[in-house]
Amino acid sequence: MDQKGFTVWFTGLSGAGKTTLADRLEPILRERGLKVEKLDGDVVRTHLSKGLGFSKEDRDTNIRRIAFVAQLLTRNGVAVITSAISPYRETRQEAREMIGNFVEVYVKCSIEELARRDVKGLYAKALRGEIPNFTGISDPYEEPLNPEIVVDSEKETVEESLNKIVTRLEELGYLP
Ligand code: PPS
Ligand code: MG
Repeated sequence: MDQKGFTVWFTGLSGAGKTTLADRLEPILRERGLKVEKLDGDVVRTHLSKGLGFSKEDRDTNIRRIAFVAQLLTRNGVAVITSAISPYRETRQEAREMIGNFVEVYVKCSIEELARRDVKGLYAKALRGEIPNFTGISDPYEEPLNPEIVVDSEKETVEESLNKIVTRLEELGYLP
């Protein structure tokens, strides 16, 4: 039987672990024989969304572009993994409706922990007021109300989070 396409949609604050989980999930799905494609916010912003900033309008445009491509791939049987902050509930809902087989994964982590990790040095800058629209500091992040999966990168190891995701995908009937 042909592979059923679906999209794993990671959402969460900068530095929470979206890209890490996406990168680690990809080979796991490949090993199951699936065709996999990743769409990462940071990467998409270097071509498909080049020139877009971080206003609500630009973020929504970015998310709609990612959702559009994810929809094309999903309906062709690909396992799509997206990793963009996607801070607005309504825009994620649009993506969900557009794509159909949609698995929302909220990568949860407190601001305190993110500021402590500060892998890219962005939180220090944002807290000094040097980044005007920084998600979680000077720009909104609307937590998912009913995501298929919540992983907590503060309390779980990457392996534990990946196990949760794979188990849920199995329950949903997406994994062969
Ligand atoms: S969005 O809101 O979904 O369109 O954002 P996304 O495309 O995922 O881009 C987020 C990455 O851009 C960097 N960055 C910022 N993030 C949030 N707010 C502001 N103002 C900002 N400026 C730059 C940051 O590296 C994000 O990467 P991640 O992987 O989330 O840490
Ligand atoms: Mg990232």
